[in-house]
Amino acid sequence: MPDSRPSTPAQDIVIIGGTGSLARLKLFPALYDLAVDDMLPAKGKIVGAARTPMSEDAYRELARQSVTLYARNGYDEEAWQRIAARLTFVTLDDAGYDNLRRALTQPARLVYLAIPPSAFGTAVRALSKNGLIEGTRLLIEKPFGRDLPSAKKLDKELRDELDESQIFRIDHYLGKETVQNILVFRFGNSLFERVWNRDAIDHIEITVAESEGIGGRGSFYEEVGALRDVVQNHLLQILSILTMEPPSSFDAESIRDEKEKLLRAVQPLDKMRVVRGQYTRGRIDGHAVKGYLDEAAVPDDSDIETFVAARVEIDNWRWAGVPIYLRTGKRMPYKATEIEIGFRDVPRSYFGGSYPHDMEPNSLRLAIQPEEEISFSLLAKVPGPSISVKPVTMSFSYEASFSAEPAEAYERLILDAMLGDPTLFVRSDSVMRAWEIVQPVLDDPPPLLDYRAGTWGPKEADKLIAPDEWHLR
Ligand code: BG6
Repeated sequence: MPDSRPSTPAQDIVIIGGTGSLARLKLFPALYDLAVDDMLPAKGKIVGAARTPMSEDAYRELARQSVTLYARNGYDEEAWQRIAARLTFVTLDDAGYDNLRRALTQPARLVYLAIPPSAFGTAVRALSKNGLIEGTRLLIEKPFGRDLPSAKKLDKELRDELDESQIFRIDHYLGKETVQNILVFRFGNSLFERVWNRDAIDHIEITVAESEGIGGRGSFYEEVGALRDVVQNHLLQILSILTMEPPSSFDAESIRDEKEKLLRAVQPLDKMRVVRGQYTRGRIDGHAVKGYLDEAAVPDDSDIETFVAARVEIDNWRWAGVPIYLRTGKRMPYKATEIEIGFRDVPRSYFGGSYPHDMEPNSLRLAIQPEEEISFSLLAKVPGPSISVKPVTMSFSYEASFSAEPAEAYERLILDAMLGDPTLFVRSDSVMRAWEIVQPVLDDPPPLLDYRAGTWGPKEADKLIAPDEWHLR
């Protein structure tokens, strides 16, 4: 996939919820970083819209501060002015959408709904009432519903007004360079695709671990929990890219077809193979941290999980019988998203007594973040007169190989949406299938177990994958 991007066509960018935390933490910084790289649309306004009235000057200052605090590129007055000159604010009062229409300058627009999903339907109907559907590409963020029925309802609300080709559903993990590289790594290297199956692979592990707790997001998290927050989306999206069949081409629909097909083969979660946990107080990096029940806006009897480990199976020709372990948790020892592919062992008798009993078979580690690295563990002969073997590592690091700093996920995703490229966005059928996969455990969850903050979750998660072991432990 050569990087020959077309220039971004003229369009307005509208942020509904333009003063909220998503706009401040992610969207303004991403737009600024795009401005630095000269990737803003050829022409068009950036319109922030929110219910609380605000002067244009105050709005510009809010955006400037978020850029100085969170943009990837350092603050540069000239680059900032490229945003400031386009920026305007509309109050979403009774006449709000009418005023919004008047503020627009182009026939095409990107509309980012940076508001809670419960407000998506109302916003889309208001766009429709004001003649703003034609020419709109709508960007929305997960969670797309909170279970299968609500996801279907939300989908209907959107699709009553918009065509699927106008809806860009963000799972920000798909905007990460290291996740996109899985496709190139698998399909660009003949070496790996040949062994990417049940004959050579013993098991697969994907871990999304965070050392942070839930911060000030207690009331949000109480509605969600780790299963809805990470398993239903980020983990299943990574899994589908990692294990799907080769697409017939690299165009958006071929890739999205294969992802959907793969998710169809993933068996719905079985409560007996799922461990749910909630962190209690503990220590991380030498600091004492609160338990989940002591966090603000969390009731004393909360049954919300902050950790999930699951064993799943993909029932197709390529993967049948290969256990797949998925794990995510808050307040784990450190932040790391990693994939480990464990290969089948060689016959141990071959090396006689020189093969140590605790030697692990070959494994491939794809570190997604914060380390961005791929490494392969191999067995090598220790130099000397006898046959003695030891594991060694071959590795590739993004930092060492590519000097350029990768773009943030939001930059890439906003740019792709402005270009109308849906490859890295989640199609409706995949969203629904992902809900079908987690729904049995939403309906009938396994018991909630405690784990101390700063550990890798409840001990039961280790039993779940025995005789294998989590590679991050
Ligand atoms: C979000 C979740 O989707 O992903 C958060 O809602 C989580 O709870 C975050 O912290 C993790 O994203 P990243 O990119 O920091 O791994």
